[in-house]
This record gives sequence, structure tokens and C-alpha cells, in this order.
Amino acid sequence: MPSKRVIFAAVVIIFGFFFQKKWGYSPIYKSNKDLKGKTVLITGGNTGIGEAAAVEFAKLGAKVVIASRNDIKSEKARKNIIKESGNSDVTTYHLDLEDQDSVRSFAKQFDAEQEHLDYLVNNAGVIGLRGLGENGFTRVFNINHLGHFLLTNLLMEKMTKQSKSRPVRIINVSSGAYRMVTSLDYDAIQEDATGVTGDFQVYGYTKLANVYFSSELHRRFSDSGITAYTIHPGVVKTEISRNNQNRLFQIFLNVVTSTIIRTPFLGAQTIMYCSLDDDVIKLSGEYFEDNSHSPLPGYASDVEAAKKLWTESLKLISS
Ligand SMILES: NC(=O)c1ccc[n+]([C@@H]2O[C@H](COP(=O)([O-])OP(=O)(O)OC[C@H]3O[C@@H](n4cnc5c(N)ncnc54)[C@H](OP(=O)(O)O)[C@@H]3O)[C@@H](O)[C@H]2O)c1
Repeated sequence: MPSKRVIFAAVVIIFGFFFQKKWGYSPIYKSNKDLKGKTVLITGGNTGIGEAAAVEFAKLGAKVVIASRNDIKSEKARKNIIKESGNSDVTTYHLDLEDQDSVRSFAKQFDAEQEHLDYLVNNAGVIGLRGLGENGFTRVFNINHLGHFLLTNLLMEKMTKQSKSRPVRIINVSSGAYRMVTSLDYDAIQEDATGVTGDFQVYGYTKLANVYFSSELHRRFSDSGITAYTIHPGVVKTEISRNNQNRLFQIFLNVVTSTIIRTPFLGAQTIMYCSLDDDVIKLSGEYFEDNSHSPLPGYASDVEAAKKLWTESLKLISS
């Protein structure tokens, strides 16, 4: 009779094998497009999925701009992106998406210093961060949705000026966790989480907001040559759990992340697919994972809910 330890190890190996097969791989998107002369801006590009996408864009010759809060990490990432890609056209900026003054001053500086913007990758994101912002909404909502909403709107004039002659693509990095909720409850977005389930729910609201944001961007701007896409990168080994407050959950995450999930390189593939593939243009406003279109359930493609989010977000950035 095998010991309990052997049985436990066997269960872990079978479980790990099954989930690694299901989640640990992603189709790799190969492109030989020459992006010389194109500019990509990636928020949260100093680590994780954003940094991996930055390397891929740089390999294709793009001018890469990464914008995050931690300037030391950003400089380290800049050197790494140059080393990995052989492309030295990589610039870092300071940006705190939670602070609207920081978003405004970043957008002004970017507009003044960068001639074009061809790909905007709204990638930065947090989960498990507790607390409310001054506007009464969760800090997670302020970072994951509102900061990107403000940034995109501030850069819209630049993008529309060029988009007839050089189309722009906006990629909003969401998550399958949008399914944690079934609507945007504006009272709930103003309530702080108290446990792990609450953290996921708070995160879910912001990731559903990312979905609505892309579809509304599509309705408003695709005729002007600016298309928008929502992507789920898969479950990826990054620093995303850094704000997690629960020790037990952290142990679980450490086990999961060290065994069965994707590398940031694999997590970046759907960003590259939606940025570069010619066939996705006709699917602007839609949701993608594993380099393919994934139709949304009814509540996530609710046009009125997306319009309402736009109106409510406008109020929150104009106060
Ligand atoms: N990892 C996953 O399994 C997974 C799954 C589904 C979706 N996603 C999504 O993928 C995106 C990237 O996440 P990741 O896994 O790569 O996480 P990560 O390794 O923690 O990277 C997050 C990035 O966001 C930046 N960031 C955080 N707060 C910010 C703020 N206030 N202002 C500006 N930048 C900020 C961070 O840089 P600084 O700390 O320097 O600011 C960092 O560069 C997120 O939107 C996440 O929701 C991830």
C-alpha cells in the first residue's frame, strides 16, 4: 500500500500535468512584420506580460515606450528589452495610473516627445490591493480601468490626427476573471474587499470594465481608423499577486505559479496577435484569448452598460 505522501505526490503530478496541458501552453504568434518607424506604448511594461510584449515589439523593430511607477525597475527592464531584442530604441517614462495628475503630466510629456502612437497597450494592472481612492472607488478600479480611460482619452487627439493615414490599435489587457461578476454594480465598485473572494470580485469588476471599454472605443473610433481589442493573456507567472494579503492564498499561488502556468512570453502572445494580425481588424471591439476570438456572454457585450461606463468614467476624470 503506497504511503499518503506518495498518493499526494501522484495527485499533484496528475493535477499539474492536466492543468499544464490546459493552461500552460499558448499558441505562439509569429509575425515577420517590419515595425520600424512604428511606436508602441505599453503601460506597466517594466515586468511581467508588459515587459515580454515590449521585447516582442522591439524584436520587430518598433520604437518601444514603457510607462510604470517604479523607475528603477523600468530602467532595468529597458536594458533587458534592449539586450533581448537587439533594438536600442526603448524609452521609459514615469506613470502612476492611480494618480490623475501623474497620468496628465505623462500624457503631455509623451505627446510632446513622441511623434506617433501606433499601438497603445493598456496592460498595467493589480489584484488584491486594498483601499479606496479619493473619488470613493476602489484603488484597483482606479488603476485597472480609470487611469487607462483617462490616458487613452488624453492621447486620443494624437491618435485621431494620424489614424486615417496610419491606423492605430488599442489593446486592453483584461482577464478571464471578468466572469467573476455579471454586471458593473456602481455601489459595489465603491466597496473595499475584505477577503480573497472579495479581492477577485473587485478585480472582476475592473476586468469587465476593460471589456466594455474596448467595445465602446470601437463604436466611437473605429470609423476613424482606431480599433480596440480586449485580451485575456492566460494564467501567467508574474508579480501580479504581489499585493495579496492572505498568507494561505499566497502559498497556494506560489505552488500554482511555480508549476502549472504560462511564462510572460506566452502571456504576451495574444497582445501580439491583436496588435499585428490583419484578420482581427474586422473584429474590433471584441475579446480574444489564445490568439483567437472568444465570443462574450450577453452581459459582457451589453452596449448600454458600456455606454454607461464611458459616461460615468468621464465624470470621474473631469472632477
Ligand atoms: N498574470 C496573470 O495570470 C494574468 C491573468 C489575467 C490577466 N492579467 C493581466 O495582465 C496585466 C499585466 O499583469 P502581470 O501579470 O504582468 O502583472 P505584474 O507582473 O504585476 O505587472 C504589472 C505591471 O503594472 C504596473 N503597475 C501597477 N500599478 C501601477 C500603477 N498604479 N501605475 C502604473 N503602472 C502600474 C507595474 O509596474 P510598477 O509597479 O512599477 O508600477 C507592472 O509593470 C494586468 O492587467 C493583469 O490584470 C494577468
